[in-house]
Amino acid sequence: MSIDYGEKIPNNVNLASNRTLQRALLQWQPGFLHWWGDMGPEGTSSADVYLRTAVSVEPKGWAHFDYVKMPDYRWGIFLAPAEAGRTVNFGAHKGEPAWQEVPGEYRANLRRLIVTQGDTEPASVEQQRHLGLTCPSLYDLRNLFQVNVEEGRHLWAMVYLLHAHFGRDGREEAEALLERRSGDADNPRILGAFNEPTPDWLAFFMFTFFTDRDGKYQLCSLAESGFDPLARTCRFMLTEEAHHMFVGESGVGRVIQRTCEAMVANRTDEPSSLRALGVIDLPTIQRYLNFHFSVTMDLFGSDVSSNAATFYTTGLKGRFDETKIDDDHLLVGATYPVLEIRDGKLVTVGAPALNALNEKLRDDYIRDADAGIERWNRMIEKQGVAFKLKAPHKAFHRRIGPLAVANIDPDGNVVSAADWAANVDRWLPSATDRAFVASLMGRVVAPGRFANWIAPPARGINNQPADFEYVRFN
Ligand SMILES: [Fe+2]
Ligand SMILES: [Fe+2]
Repeated sequence: MSIDYGEKIPNNVNLASNRTLQRALLQWQPGFLHWWGDMGPEGTSSADVYLRTAVSVEPKGWAHFDYVKMPDYRWGIFLAPAEAGRTVNFGAHKGEPAWQEVPGEYRANLRRLIVTQGDTEPASVEQQRHLGLTCPSLYDLRNLFQVNVEEGRHLWAMVYLLHAHFGRDGREEAEALLERRSGDADNPRILGAFNEPTPDWLAFFMFTFFTDRDGKYQLCSLAESGFDPLARTCRFMLTEEAHHMFVGESGVGRVIQRTCEAMVANRTDEPSSLRALGVIDLPTIQRYLNFHFSVTMDLFGSDVSSNAATFYTTGLKGRFDETKIDDDHLLVGATYPVLEIRDGKLVTVGAPALNALNEKLRDDYIRDADAGIERWNRMIEKQGVAFKLKAPHKAFHRRIGPLAVANIDPDGNVVSAADWAANVDRWLPSATDRAFVASLMGRVVAPGRFANWIAPPARGINNQPADFEYVRFN
């Protein structure tokens, strides 16, 4: 399934054969470019950036690298190949042929799922738009821009579905996706984490590790959808998402590496001494981790949710790795453990599995995130430093669901408001922490040079040498 780059909108969905749809999308395109100009990476329109662009959706060799000016990036519509004979694999319609058109009775719910996913894509671009001004290297700057253009493409992916399958409502939703703004008091993005600022590069790396990983889990569940165009769209988006999580994991890893080197060379684990050396002490990294982990926990939604049950039963949104799970894929009468606060303590109770699907996805996510944190811990251990990073308890610092009413510490103890206030600066980044990290953010753009607080990567993008000029400013 090669991609037609001869078209104004690159695509592998034979857009040229559907004039009405093509016209509608061509009408949306200038609005998107306008949004990119307003809210995309600041002050970068003339830079040549070494970016990868999808040339085919086959697993091998879909990525083509070249210098591109970001406003000229070929955003387009790419679906993973259709699976012959695919069926709905869960819920009440299990075993029926997968839908190529939206079933009328599920239209509103499907639209809501697509809009909620679509809204996160431009939101993250908005959150990250000032970071280029303080990049620690050209390598990192390129990675930021790669993530940004691909989030822009993910917006295209969702807008295609809205235009192709939801008529006038879909077109209106596509417009609204360009109108909401991350953090805007009057017209914010839909989900809380996407209205938080991403003020510095440690926050960016944590965001791409934790929050883009939420993206992976949401996309994986939507890739199971009985609505086949959504499934195929999400499957292709996942190939792009993998790079975003790599940027996060290797980014935090390189910060840790640099800090540990300074700890060993100077025989100190004293945060103030390390800060004086211009590196980020590990307890500060832990507090950033706590923040981004907890904000991302909320993205999975309420622990017990009737919407989650409806989305599953009607075949719209499956579980992570749905088809690999060995059960009846109906879940009627099954239970799943969720947390509740009883007598001032967290207790585990059984909830109907259908209603606990958000919690199940959250738990799947936590296992994956924990594995990444363990890889960071192995790096710390290798340096001979005695320190372990740890994900906080999933109930820590929640703002959504029944756990939001309580103050819960990183170990999962319910604490008083006074205890919370007395300790919050040990658990979450304080104003002082953020000011310190901000003080390190300077712009490093000489090829092969890196800011003092971060180690160089083990290898270059597309195996380029260490001093490769990933971004050329014109
Ligand atoms: Fe995305
Ligand atoms: Fe992403």
